[in-house]
Amino acid sequence: MELTVSRTHTESSEFILPGDLNSLGYLFGGKLVSWIDKVGAISAIKHVRGIVVTVSIDNLIFKKPVTNGSVLTIQASVNRAFSHSMEVGVVANTLPPGDSVPVHVCTAYLTFVALDEHGKPKEIAPVIPETEVEKRRFEEALIRRNHRLSLQTQLGKGPGKA
Ligand SMILES: CC(C)(COP(=O)(O)OP(=O)(O)OC[C@H]1O[C@@H](n2cnc3c(N)ncnc32)[C@H](O)[C@@H]1OP(=O)(O)O)[C@@H](O)C(=O)NCCC(=O)NCCS
Repeated sequence: MELTVSRTHTESSEFILPGDLNSLGYLFGGKLVSWIDKVGAISAIKHVRGIVVTVSIDNLIFKKPVTNGSVLTIQASVNRAFSHSMEVGVVANTLPPGDSVPVHVCTAYLTFVALDEHGKPKEIAPVIPETEVEKRRFEEALIRRNHRLSLQTQLGKGPGKA
């Protein structure tokens, strides 16, 4: 079985209801982050077929508010696998009531670590990008990884440190 990026594609939709909103009447950001984490985790699980934990969420940008009655669609796929971790890219689009064109509301990059049966980081097989877009994301994932790990190191908080 080929471990392609397309095997990790995951999509989930939510109907935004009053209980999902903040005091301004827009979707509460923490709720969106929770859905992003869940859809991203399912994508990572599809790649490793095992246990994963979220180790970081970065570049999370709320570009547009999401209104009551909208349909929110979250899509995720594994951009690149490293030794024990993988980057998952997540995009959220919303379709406000009465509209026919989805609006891009949020992008985020999550790093998941695969764990073995003892809860220790486990090696991950590479993921194979096939399309031009997947190949671009594959290259960009390495740049983002170097950036996030080098920031951690510069701050004296590299992997394995508190
Ligand atoms: C994830 C966890 C097991 C990693 O433990 P650790 O002792 O840091 O492990 P290591 O130093 O061996 O690193 C393991 C992998 O995590 C990556 N990693 C660690 N810290 C990271 C960070 N801040 N950002 C991105 N990747 C990170 C490492 O690069 C390594 O991946 P690689 O081998 O592909 O390079 C540990 O940090 C943990 O349990 N965190 C809590 C996870 C959690 O509860 N999440 C929320 C609920 S799902």
